[in-house]
Amino acid sequence: MARKQDRIGEGYGGEIALQNTKLGYGKTDLLQRAKEKGFVQKAAVSADEAFDGTIVVKDANLWYGSFQALKHVSVEIPNHKTTALIGPSGCGKSTFLKCLNRMNDLVPECKVDGSFRIGNRDIYGKIDVNLLRKNVGMVFQKPNPFPMSVYDNVTYGAKTFGIRKRSELDEIVETSLKQAAMWEELKDRLHQSALGLSGGQQQRLCIARALAVKPKVILMDEPTSALDPISTGKIEELCKELAKNTTIVIVTHNMQQAVRISDRTAFFLLGELVEFGDTEQVFHSPADERTSRYVSGRFG
Ligand SMILES: Nc1ncnc2c1ncn2[C@@H]1O[C@H](COP(=O)(O)OP(=O)(O)OP(=O)(O)O)[C@@H](O)[C@H]1O
Ligand SMILES: [Mg+2]
Repeated sequence: MARKQDRIGEGYGGEIALQNTKLGYGKTDLLQRAKEKGFVQKAAVSADEAFDGTIVVKDANLWYGSFQALKHVSVEIPNHKTTALIGPSGCGKSTFLKCLNRMNDLVPECKVDGSFRIGNRDIYGKIDVNLLRKNVGMVFQKPNPFPMSVYDNVTYGAKTFGIRKRSELDEIVETSLKQAAMWEELKDRLHQSALGLSGGQQQRLCIARALAVKPKVILMDEPTSALDPISTGKIEELCKELAKNTTIVIVTHNMQQAVRISDRTAFFLLGELVEFGDTEQVFHSPADERTSRYVSGRFG
C-alpha cells in the first residue's frame, strides 16, 4: 500500500521528530497547552497518550521504487528496554528505524506494508503523524544542531507547542541539559551558537533537544560513530539512564557497544531480520549460523 508523501518534519531537517506532548515541567503541561492553543485535535490527544508500550511489527515490507529494502520483518521490541539493530552496511537498519516514526514517508517512491503498532496504536493508521513523531524521537549519526543558540535548540519543541513564558522555558533547558549531562558544561554558554560546540557536545545537545519534549521512544542511528571514546562513553551512560523509562532503539556497527548497552539485539541481513533475542544470547549462542559469523567477525 502506498503511503502518501508527507512533508511534516522537514522543518526540523526531517530529523528531530519532536516527541511527547505530555510534559510536566512545573505547572506546564505541553499537551494541555497545545490543546488550548488548538495545535492538537482532541482525538489526536488521546492517541498521543497511547504511544507507550511494546513496538509490534508484523510482516513488514518496504520498497524504494522497485527495490525491496525490508522483507517480511516481524519483531516485538519491548517497552523501556534498549534494543540494538546490527548488521552489515545496506541491510536495512536505518530503513527499519525510520519506519518507526514514519520518516520514510518523506522519501518519494517509498512504499510500506505490514503492520506497525506502538502500544495500542497502528502507526500507519489514522493518527496524527506530528504526534507520532513527538512521541518517537530520532537522533542521527551526524549531529544536526539547528543554527541557533543552545537555548533555542533545546526549547524549539516547547515553543512549537506554545510555551512562551521565560521561566518555563528556562526550566525545560535546565532539566533537559541535566538529563543529557551537559548542564555544568553549557550553563554559561546557553546563548552562544550551538554550531560552536564540539561534535560530541553537539550530539549530546541533539539528544537534550529530543528529550526536551519527553519522548516515549528514542530512535538512534549510529549516534556515536563520529565521536571520540570519551564522548561515546558519555552517550552510552546517558542511554543507560534513559532506558529506565524510555524505549531506545539504537543502530550500531560497534558490537561492544551493542553488548554494553542493549537488552535485546536484532540482526538484519539483506533486508531480513535474521535473528532477534536477548543480547547475551545473540552474541554468545546465536541460533542462526549467519548471526554467528557476523558477531564473530567471520562474515563474508
Ligand atoms: N532513499 C532511498 N532510495 C533508494 N534506496 C535506498 C534509499 N535509502 C536506502 N536505500 C537502499 O536500501 C538499502 C538499505 O539501506 P539502509 O540505509 O537502511 O541500510 P543500513 O543497514 O542502515 O546501512 P548502513 O549500515 O550503511 O547505514 C540499501 O540498499 C540502500 O541503498
Ligand atoms: Mg544506516
